[in-house]
Amino acid sequence: MECVVQGIIETKHVEALEILLQGLSGVHRESLRIHELCLKSVPNLGLVSSEVRLLCDLEQPEPAWTVRHIGGAMRGAGAEQISVLVRTMAESKRGAQITVTVSSINKMLKLHATDDAVPVTPGIQLVEVTAPASSENYTEVVAAVSSFCEYLAPLLHLSKPGVSTGVVPTAAAAAASLMSDGGGTAL
Ligand SMILES: *[C@@H]1O[C@H](CO)[C@@H](O)[C@H](O)[C@H]1NC(C)=O
Repeated sequence: MECVVQGIIETKHVEALEILLQGLSGVHRESLRIHELCLKSVPNLGLVSSEVRLLCDLEQPEPAWTVRHIGGAMRGAGAEQISVLVRTMAESKRGAQITVTVSSINKMLKLHATDDAVPVTPGIQLVEVTAPASSENYTEVVAAVSSFCEYLAPLLHLSKPGVSTGVVPTAAAAAASLMSDGGGTAL
């Protein structure tokens, strides 16, 4: 299983987000060049939608593929009440504790031609926060993801995927203060 929230941020504030994340986690960002193919089944006749994602790491000398299956979201009254989506996930590679991915969504006109890709939402990046969980520990992971999101709240609002919330009004001020003090101030 995994816990997931999503949000959006203006491209001009991504550097401030990096500074904040580096201050919170003490690790530097990793630059990735991944071509992701997503095969999605639509919900139909009571079956939940599911996805198979094929991720090809283009940074490796030989293309390295990872297969990730994303199943249905946890349902029921309890699931409605929590602010984080919990869904089944199986991956051929183990994930890190909390992963923050900032992506620009592009249309690709040719296979692997990432340099010629055309942005779908110019000036806006998608931010996704995920953390691996199990049926035993997901409440703990949900709490960890929720409190992590609070640290990011001045810069971006994170919610369950599919709940569109837009950019936060405090982003410019928060970014300016992060850029001026290099992330030294605890938010
Ligand atoms: C919860 O379980 C998953 C899967 O076993 C594991 O990867 C993760 O580290 C665990 N998280 C916590 C906070 O115990």
